[in-house]
Parts: sequence; C-alpha cells; structure tokens
Amino acid sequence: MIRLTIHENEKKGNISPEIYGHFSEHLGRCIYEGLFVGEDSQIPNKAGMRSDVVEALKDMKLPVLRWPGGCFADEYHWKDGIGPKENRKRMVNTNWGGVVEDNSFGTHEYFELCDQLGCKTYINGNVGSGTVQEMAEWIEYMTFDGESPLANERRKNGHDKPWRVDYFGVGNENWGCGGNMHPEYYADVYRRYQSFVKSYDKDNPINRIACGPSDFDYDWTEKLLNRLFTRCFDHLHGNLEGISLHYYTLPHDWDHKGDAVKFTEDEWYITLNKTLKMDEIITKHSNIMDKYDPKKILALIVDEWGCWFDVEEGTNPGFLYQQNTMRDALVAGINLNIFNKHCDRVRMANIAQTVNVLQSVILTEGKKMVLTPTYHVFRMFKHHQDSQLLNSFLTGVNEAGIDEYKVPEVTESVSMSKDGTVNITLNNLTLDSDKEIDISFDELKAKDIEAFIVTGAMDAHNTFDDAEVVTTKEFKGLEADGKNIKVNLPARSVVLIRVK
Ligand code: AHR
Repeated sequence: MIRLTIHENEKKGNISPEIYGHFSEHLGRCIYEGLFVGEDSQIPNKAGMRSDVVEALKDMKLPVLRWPGGCFADEYHWKDGIGPKENRKRMVNTNWGGVVEDNSFGTHEYFELCDQLGCKTYINGNVGSGTVQEMAEWIEYMTFDGESPLANERRKNGHDKPWRVDYFGVGNENWGCGGNMHPEYYADVYRRYQSFVKSYDKDNPINRIACGPSDFDYDWTEKLLNRLFTRCFDHLHGNLEGISLHYYTLPHDWDHKGDAVKFTEDEWYITLNKTLKMDEIITKHSNIMDKYDPKKILALIVDEWGCWFDVEEGTNPGFLYQQNTMRDALVAGINLNIFNKHCDRVRMANIAQTVNVLQSVILTEGKKMVLTPTYHVFRMFKHHQDSQLLNSFLTGVNEAGIDEYKVPEVTESVSMSKDGTVNITLNNLTLDSDKEIDISFDELKAKDIEAFIVTGAMDAHNTFDDAEVVTTKEFKGLEADGKNIKVNLPARSVVLIRVK
C-alpha cells in the first residue's frame, strides 16, 4: 500500500503563481492565428485577440506570459513593431520557417493581450543582435511616465500611461541562438546591458533575468555566477533577480525526437523518465546558486520546458506543431509537482508554447479551438497558485518502466490555499496499474472533499472533430473516513483532490 503523509501544519514556502506561466514566441501559428487574428478577422476577437482562446486561458488562470521569444527575441527589433500597421517593417523570421513577419503584433498588442488575460508581463530583450541603446529605449518607451522622446512616441501611438514590465530577460539562450557566447563573456555583457534596464517606476521595479543554462550544463551556471559575483557582489544583488533554465523533454534525440501520438509503451516510460530529470537538474543548478546566493534571493526561472516531438507530418517543419496526448498530461503533472516542491528557488516557469507550438495548452484550426490534455492539467493545478507548499511525502512507491528508464509509480505535491483548502495533486505514471493510496494528515479531518481527474488511453488526444476525448471529470475513486482518505488512482491519470 502506498501512503501519502501530509503535515498540513508544516508550511514550506509560497508557490509563486508564475510557476504556472506560459511562453509565446513569434513561431509558427502561436502568436499569429493562435492568439492574434487581427481586428478584421471573421473569428470573434477583441482588438484582434481571439476571444475563445483568451477566455480559455483566463479560465486556466494564466499568470504570466513570456514574449517575443525564444530565438526570435534575439533578432527582434522592437521599433519594427510600433506605429501604424501599414508602415511596419516586413522581415524574415530566420529561425522559424523563413516566413514573412509583418510585425502586426508588437509591443502595444502584447500589452493589450496581457491586459485581456489579466496576467503579468515578461518581455525578453535582444542581446544577440541588438544594441544597449535599443534595449534602453524599449524600456523607456514602455515604462517612462514623464516627458521624453520615447514616452511621447508611445503617447502618439495611442498609449498615454506607461505599462508595467514585471520581468525582463536580458537575452535568450546566449550560449546558442542568442550569440554563441562563453559564460564569462555573457556575464560581462549582462552586467553592461542590465545597467540600462532602468526601473523608472520605483514602486514596481523590473525583475531582470539573466540567461542561465540549458539542461545539464552546470559549467554555464558556475562560470556565469562566478563572473557576475566577482567584484561588487552586493551591488549585483540589486541588479539581477533571476537566471533562466531551459529543459525540453525529448523521447530520443534532436535528429529523431519521436512521434507525438504514435509511440510505444517503452517510449511512454522513456519520456516520463526523461522529464523526471527536471528534479535533478533543478537541484544541481540550485546547489550551485546556493554557493553564491545562500539566502536564495535569486530566482531560478524555468522559462522554457515541455515535450518536443517531431513536427506533425504535412506541417511546416519550422512551425513546431505537434499533437498532445495523455503522455503530455503526465509530463505536465510531473513537472508542475516538481516545480511546487522547489518553490524556494523556482519562482517562475513558462511552458513552451501556449498555442499551436510544442506542448501547447490550446490548438486552433481556423475558427476551431481544442483544449489539450495539458490544458486540463494546468486548469486543475491552478489552485496551487499562491498557496503554501506543505510538507508531504510518499512511502511504499515501487518503480515501473523498462531497463534504465524506470519511473516511480506515483508522484505528488500538496499545498494549502489562503482559505485553508488543501490541494493534493497526484500522478499515476504506470500504464496498467491502478494504485491504492492512503492519505493521512496531522490533524485535519477530511470531510468536505472535491476531486477531479484527467485520464485516458496513453495516446488519447483531442482533435478538431472530437474535442472531448480527454477532459476534466469528477473523480469518484476515493473514500474518506472522517480522518484519512483512501484513493484508487487509475493508471495513466492526473488527479486533484481538494480538502476543505
Ligand atoms: O521554443 C522553441 C525554441 O527553443 C526557442 O525559440 C529557443 O529559445 C529554444 O531553443
């Protein structure tokens, strides 16, 4: 029998809502078609933003949106995307399919979208091919309230008051598409660029994010922090709020990633085994950060994560369009539980990418919209946002899987909302074995309970013809005796239990 012990009196820190964040790049049909269709579109929209998609994302409580990239950010020149649309520059999106980028979605449109979503803003600046001046001017354009040439230009373009930039990324993947830099070199570049990311609104300072590592690259983290924190350590604590981390889950390798829908049972376990590496990756980067920042002032921002499969046959290879199955639901549930457990260091995470690209929560085709299994997991898990992580652990869990690709049968995390409700999220990673779980608390008498489940065949997915194959359903597989809860957790499932 598996036991889940919950010490509801032991709170381990706040789960930042931004852990449930998203990333949307000018890539394929994410921004264009997915989020933004333009005011003249037949598809119902408000100021060009698709109303169906905005409503679904609000219901999922999307807390923060990273934009405009990705690799696109390091070739994005923001002035191309402001002013009358007919005058905006048409350029080539060199990273993603070589298509024409007409810049009809720019700074004003981004803030309009975030306003409609009611979410925080995370802009990624251009270090790879942009100048310090260009970055400084973008900040001034967006956030300066007084009299200045750029603030006046913003007013001329229709926005009187400054916007709030909550997070600003100083470059993206500067070890790769963002300039192929060495960590020490990038650290110096960071020090220079961040000096001009000024917080004009002293009450709402901009959180600056430096380009951190890719997956297992501990050398980058070590060298970056070492170089940043030599000379003026204290000073830099006022000039850096976080470093990013990117880790994608690929069943195989970059040349042959694996199909999003047609996969074997072995590939199920390989994928889940690989996604579980997120825990080790976060732990090891955090350990390096602890050396330089023992008080955990800096955040680790996992601003790109999720499944990356081979693109769907017949679609533009540069558009990274892929379907989303129950396997993706498990990947989402596993990672969100991991982030919760690391909430002392991980204060934001952004799944790649919101609509029509990689592990999306939404797929669109013309007027049609489909919510993916990943969407349903995010909507269930929203109750963790801004809750207190509780001390909880499992015992009696065996391993499932194949060869070196073993996984624990079950993973979990538990939080307490502000109103005292306890949120328990459980994943059953096995393909064929329902699991009995006995849940116990310190003192809490489990009486008033509601529970929901996302489950299905391993390759179950929603299509434009059948959008309800995988949905959120009420979960009835539990019994409470006034103290403990006995759960029968079905194979291949993600479950939320709320105890009031
Ligand atoms: O999300 C797709 C791409 O993956 C991003 O543009 C880049 O940052 C990463 O390599």
